Amino acid sequence: AFAFVNPGYITLVPEPCYPVYRGATYFAGGLPIYMDLRPENDFFPDLDRVDPRDAARAKILWLNYPNSPTGKLATKAFFEKAVAFARKHGCLICQDAAYTEMAFDGRALSILEIDGAKEVAIELHSCSKTFSMTGWRVGWACGNRDLIAGLGRMKSNVDSGIFTAIQRAATTALQHYDRIVPPLMKMYRQRRDTFCNGLKAIGWNVRPPEGTFYCWIPVPKGYTSAQVSSRLLEEADIVTTPGNGFGAPGEGFIRATLTVPEERLALAVERIEKLKW
Ligand SMILES: Cc1ncc(COP(=O)(O)O)c(C=O)c1O
Repeated sequence: AFAFVNPGYITLVPEPCYPVYRGATYFAGGLPIYMDLRPENDFFPDLDRVDPRDAARAKILWLNYPNSPTGKLATKAFFEKAVAFARKHGCLICQDAAYTEMAFDGRALSILEIDGAKEVAIELHSCSKTFSMTGWRVGWACGNRDLIAGLGRMKSNVDSGIFTAIQRAATTALQHYDRIVPPLMKMYRQRRDTFCNGLKAIGWNVRPPEGTFYCWIPVPKGYTSAQVSSRLLEEADIVTTPGNGFGAPGEGFIRATLTVPEERLALAVERIEKLKW
């Protein structure tokens, strides 16, 4: 956002979302305009419903697929629509692809595979999720040449390079992708199936994620997200994130994370079953 947003500019931000899209826009003096991601829209923003005045002033369309927190993967049709929108309105697309290698059935699409995307889009990648290198701060951007140049100008003036040992670790991780990533994905798939099938068996209506290591779970009727997360924490020692923390349309959901062993996830289901709602 700092590279492209001037005070008064608008960015289009899907919600629920990783809160940084919103925060970075504010830091740059811009104004985020939100687009809801809801189950009834298959967790895609409805670009046809963006106010034409906002579309005309938008500088960045933020996207994030595979999506946190909903676990949704992009379709080719949606990415084509987003590219057409950006070209029509003269905005750029910043597609956060942090979870791009974490797709359960097949491969996640890159937006750069779409015709015309390289004129308007950049994609942000990270080693944090793919190689469990969270906190190591290694990632990269690729896509439109001018946008990458703008990002490079900004980055080279506000911070400096990553510790060399970590860069070498990232190189090794990338070189051994085939040995590292498929077993990790097999592990996450087993965790997802154990947890989601377990929840379904006790009557919770959960859509298994298509990608990422998150489960986006509708809360029982009559409860808020915060109430459910609090009860799970206080009465079952289970940590989840209340969905409203990702933005208003996240109310009514909690996010669970598949970063603990399968046995712990099975135990979580057992404990959830004992709570009466
Ligand atoms: C959607 C999304 N993008 C980006 C990140 C952060 O990635 P990095 O560690 O490379 O800053 C996260 C981490 O939670 C995330 O969920």
